[in-house]
Parts: sequence; structure tokens; C-alpha cells
Amino acid sequence: MALAPGLAGETPGSAELPAAIDALRRERKAVILAHYYQENAIQDIADYIGDSLELARRAASTEAEVIVFCGVHFMAETAKILNPDKIVLLPDLDAGCSLADACPADSFARFRAEHPDHFVVSYINCSAAVKAQSDLICTSSNAVQLVQQLPADRPILFAPDQNLGRWVSRQSGRELTLWPGSCMVHDSFSEQALLELQLEYPEAEVIAHPECEQHLLDLADFIGSTSKLLQRAQTSDASRFIVLTEPGILHQMRQRVPNKTFHEVPGADGCSCNACPYMRLNTMEKLWHCLATMGPAIELDDAIRERALRPIQRMLAMSA
Ligand code: 13P
Ligand code: SF4
Repeated sequence: MALAPGLAGETPGSAELPAAIDALRRERKAVILAHYYQENAIQDIADYIGDSLELARRAASTEAEVIVFCGVHFMAETAKILNPDKIVLLPDLDAGCSLADACPADSFARFRAEHPDHFVVSYINCSAAVKAQSDLICTSSNAVQLVQQLPADRPILFAPDQNLGRWVSRQSGRELTLWPGSCMVHDSFSEQALLELQLEYPEAEVIAHPECEQHLLDLADFIGSTSKLLQRAQTSDASRFIVLTEPGILHQMRQRVPNKTFHEVPGADGCSCNACPYMRLNTMEKLWHCLATMGPAIELDDAIRERALRPIQRMLAMSA
């Protein structure tokens, strides 16, 4: 698609990018949705910031003609499933997810076939083709609540995150048959670095995303989705926090409670692998570019989209 009228083909300089993106957003009648793991500048310019559930709800209710999803592919795909007639843009089409990649649709079909009597609950961090094979979608903020609503006599398959599944099983008291996937970011936090931070700041509250490995969750004072971690930072009496999730969330924490102190936990061996390499593929330049060119856009096979829609709608209804 052509550039918006009046726009030169050259990317504006970084100082001009926010105004240029804002002008294009108005011209395209677009809404910008951003996940908490996006770089700070993208969070600052977004119309809405949220966790996976909040962003799916926004995508379901928006009247905008164009949705720019500053997040990863499965999130933009969910927005497209909910809005087949709208244009859904993802600034970088390579912004995938190691968890979604760990569950290929054909292997998942075999797994389901081995458990024909099971109710299939899939974490939203999966492809549309896996959603299409699921009975119910959940996110980390509603998974416990949804699993508790399922008939007690029905066995449950849970995919693709085994760490989240194990935590949901403990919280809900339901036995879950788990797909053996995990997130490369939440698998990377260094327990040694966490213990050292706890020694240095014994008063700090440790707050963790349920995608973290069990040995880290065992050290946490509070466990929840990104939005719940943000709420906890605001409502807890603690004034210092050690945060076991992608450090993009610290931007919102520091903005909302500037008088509190937040520490990220590095990856093992001090690597910066605690930053999601997929989320961080989106940049302000690419956000401008996708609004200017109206691409890359998410496209989906109709049959998969229709089958994937039902378990998402069921989730939205059950967690209303
Ligand atoms: P939330 O639903 O908590 O935002 O999690 C999304 C995600 O990808 C975590 O890695
Ligand atoms: Fe996927 Fe992990 Fe990145 Fe979340 S943090 S998008 S689960 S790879």
C-alpha cells in the first residue's frame, strides 16, 4: 500500500518519530495497542498498554479501523481472529514467541489424539492453528479462574507452558496433563542473582510471573500476570521489589509508583537474556513504517480463524 498522503518515504529522525507516528495514527484511524514488554517509547505512545487478556479485550471492543499491535505475533493474530475485517499490523512480523514455537500444530494434534477424552486448555501464547484445536484459551491472569470452572470429572490437557500449567494446577487443585513447553525468557533468570539481591535487600518483596521455573516461583512472595504484578507494586506495603519477569514492565512500575524501587533479575551468566528478543524487535521506526506503508499485516486462513475464534470467545465470556 502507498505511503500516507503528504509523507516522504524517509523515516523521521528519532526526535520527530513520536509526532510523526501520532499524525499517521490519526490519519489511518488506527489504535496502537502495546504490551508491557515493549520498549519504553512504544509504551509511551500507545493508546492502550496491557497484559495479554486486557489487550485481547481491547482488540475485541475497538472501533478503530486499523489495529497496530506492538507485541508479538500470537497477540496480533488473536486481534485478527477477533477482527477479521480490520487491518491488523505488527511492526515486525518476526516478533514471534519461543513458547508458541515450542508447540507446532501437527505435534499438538498427535498429543490431543493420545488424550481423546481431555478438555483442551491452551495458553494464549500459541499459534492460531493450536488455538483452533483447543476448547478454551486462557491467559496468565485468568487461567486459574477458568480451570476452576471446568467440570470436576473431566481430565484436562494444558498447553504449551508447563511452568504456568504446574502453577495453575497447584492453585486450582486440578490435575493437568502438561505440554512440555516453556518461555526462553522466564527460563533464563539466574537463581544465584536472585538470592544475592535478596541478601542485599532482605526487605524487598519478590514478585514473579507464573511462566518462571518452579524453583524461582518457590522464592516468590507474589505470583501473577504482568498486570497483576503492576497492581501488586502499587498496592503492596513494600517499597522495594525484585521483579521476575521481562524488565519492560519496570517502566510502568516506575511511572506509577515513583517513590518505590524496582530491581530486575539478570539472566544466568549475567546475560541480558531476561529481555524478550521477540518483543524487542518492534521499534519506534518500525511502528512508524508500518503505519506509513500499512504493512506488515496479519493474514489468516479462514477455516483456522473460525475454529480459533470459539475458544477465545469462550475465554472472554468465562472471564468477563
Ligand atoms: P501476560 O499475559 O502476563 O502479559 O504475559 C504475556 C507474556 O508473554 C509473558 O511472557
Ligand atoms: Fe513469548 Fe516469553 Fe517473549 Fe512472552 S517473554 S513473548 S512467552 S518468548
